[in-house]
Amino acid sequence: GRMLEPAEIIQELNGLFKPDRYLAGQKILITAGPTQEAIDPVRYISNRSSGKMGYALAKQAKLAGAEVVLISGPSNLEAPQGIKTIRVKTANEMFVAVKEHIFGQDIFISAAAVGDYKVKDFSDLKIKNNKENLTLTLELNIDILAWVCARKLEFNLNLITVGFAAETHDLERYAKEKLMKKGADFIVANDVSCEDIGFDSDENEVVIFSRAGMMPIQKASKEIIAEKLLREMFK
Ligand code: CTP
Repeated sequence: GRMLEPAEIIQELNGLFKPDRYLAGQKILITAGPTQEAIDPVRYISNRSSGKMGYALAKQAKLAGAEVVLISGPSNLEAPQGIKTIRVKTANEMFVAVKEHIFGQDIFISAAAVGDYKVKDFSDLKIKNNKENLTLTLELNIDILAWVCARKLEFNLNLITVGFAAETHDLERYAKEKLMKKGADFIVANDVSCEDIGFDSDENEVVIFSRAGMMPIQKASKEIIAEKLLREMFK
């Protein structure tokens, strides 16, 4: 067999010796990574998400005793050890997987950078560059987080919902707007205009928004941010 990465062995050991399993018995569904929308058989539209934040949350939640299901868009990261990981490509595939798994969960964390739009007329054949200009018509994808929050209300589900907001400006205003618009319990916001945090970086710096107020979490590795986020929101 293949040996686990040393870092993963350390993490498993930490889990064994960590007395504080504050998420024991909790079922958590997490989405992570980007989504991809095909333009033609060889091209797609996507975004700069690496999946690191969502994967870190999945690992830390498992270490804290939770039963985790991870739904991941295309990411170069390996499926975390011992976590059921479902790979999807498009926003619609992610939506189908979320619908299949959401009922019976205690917590839903929507860390994926879901593409807002898909290409309306997907071309079965590779598009040739024989035109000066090419116009693609895009249509809106379903908002998965808003859909989950609406089901929570409709069925009076005992479910805590968490969304992310990656913003380049007016972080507080947009985060508060998303909290209301989507109906989530928490929005975790980060500023992606700084190159050293956010998207492909190993570090992040976030602010948690809820109806009760806001709580900043200082710059740290995504693993540490994930651990602090889970404690702050669910302990
Ligand atoms: N989200 C989702 N489904 C979508 C779009 C977003 O579930 N189709 C979720 C993301 O996973 C994230 C939150 O909604 O948790 C906010 O995503 P973001 O892209 O920041 O917000 P949008 O609603 O897409 O607004 P905008 O792109 O205009 O900032």
